[in-house]
Amino acid sequence: MLDDMFDYIANIRERPVWQPIPDVVREQFRRDLPREGSDLDHVYRTFTDFIAPYATGNVHPGFMGWVHGGGSAVGMLAEMLAAGLNANLGGRDHIPIEVERQIVKWTRQMFGFPAGASGLFVTGTSMANLMAVLVARTAALGKPMRQRGIGDHGAALTAYTSRAAHGCIAKAMEIAGLGSDALRCIEVYRSHRIDIAALRQQIARDCELGLKPFLVVGSAGTVDIGAIDDLRAVAAICREQQLWFHVDGAFGALGILSPVLAPRLDGIEQADSIALDFHKWGQVPYDAGFLLVRDGERHRDAFAAPAAYLRRETRGLAAGAEWPCDLGPDLSRGFRALKTWFTLKTYGTEKLGAIIARSCELATYLKARVLAEPRLELLAPVNLNIVCFRYRAGDADRVNREIVVSLHESGIAAPSTTVLDGRLAIRAAIVNHRTDVCDIDALIAAVLEFGARRAEDPGRRVAAGAAI
Ligand SMILES: Cc1ncc(COP(=O)(O)O)c(C=O)c1O
Repeated sequence: MLDDMFDYIANIRERPVWQPIPDVVREQFRRDLPREGSDLDHVYRTFTDFIAPYATGNVHPGFMGWVHGGGSAVGMLAEMLAAGLNANLGGRDHIPIEVERQIVKWTRQMFGFPAGASGLFVTGTSMANLMAVLVARTAALGKPMRQRGIGDHGAALTAYTSRAAHGCIAKAMEIAGLGSDALRCIEVYRSHRIDIAALRQQIARDCELGLKPFLVVGSAGTVDIGAIDDLRAVAAICREQQLWFHVDGAFGALGILSPVLAPRLDGIEQADSIALDFHKWGQVPYDAGFLLVRDGERHRDAFAAPAAYLRRETRGLAAGAEWPCDLGPDLSRGFRALKTWFTLKTYGTEKLGAIIARSCELATYLKARVLAEPRLELLAPVNLNIVCFRYRAGDADRVNREIVVSLHESGIAAPSTTVLDGRLAIRAAIVNHRTDVCDIDALIAAVLEFGARRAEDPGRRVAAGAAI
């Protein structure tokens, strides 16, 4: 299995990025509960024949959709070791917890956070952002809120982010019981950075109305085009108004590892909390989200809960005053820290920073190719590693949507789409360390080929499940 997986990763270019899933393959996974066991060889054959060929494709250098990391063989080996140890990182006194604490320390160092800062692994930034909202909410309302609920004071809380922020922040407000109406989505400049003056005005307006502003979420890399808010200016407003300053740095925060990009994140070191994913630009296999909180006390206030069956001792396996379960909703937790530790130790932050900078250079190359090609149109500034463009055509939204479906089904490349100023864009986010110039060239060539075909063929439409 291990040899096969090394070959799979080493020869990934020979495979399609993604391929449509035949019914017969889906059928394999709609069977009844297995009452009797099967031979492991047989089970493994089902994996090689029916699972591996139909995976998402983000290991492939041609994968450029959404924001997916490529992982590495080193991370894969660490996952195998972690599964062998089968450690539960909810708490107790064992070295896997120290490995996670090591990553907390390293993450503090990356962002210049103080020694009292706390952190922990979570599934992804959606969860880390939710937890940050919960920590900020408890800080605003006081710890007794955990028993009493948010009450009238909680109903008056308002939070702020930009219109370009990720949808998981509104979802976090809903889950936190504050409601997404209480999230003010502030206008952005053309660069997709939050309009600082508009942010100030909205906070002032809400204060006049008797509402209680409590949180601003800055973006370090917006999902659509990779814009980084003016984090220093946001930090200053939060300091003046005594608001919690959270940064959604899902992919962009790790730009701090590149000396070229780090200055663009100026101000992130002042955040009260940062959410980020090691599974994106950190090249760690899924999943490895992370939350860092400046004031560990505030973090514990939101989640720590005593229980007789979780009593801490001074010696023995139940020793160790602070357990990760004090810092989040999970009690059972896997050893996500190991694959991150292996990745950071094996490659070092300089190399990871260079990989991050290189993906931005590739985005600049893609931008140049788009600008040099009269049949293509650039739809947004290229801030980091994301390029939004489209094929010029009448009925361009339809044509470009069909181009992207054709790209996926051809297996050549897998960008995604987004809508910018009402116009559908082909969106290529370069995250994978395996992506190279040849993959960008292949994307452009295929867009031009499919574009010419789709533009000439207005009668055909993308139908669910229909090959085009
Ligand atoms: C800016 C931003 N925030 C949040 C998220 C959600 O992160 P996750 O998918 O790890 O939950 C993403 C995902 O791409 C993102 O780009």
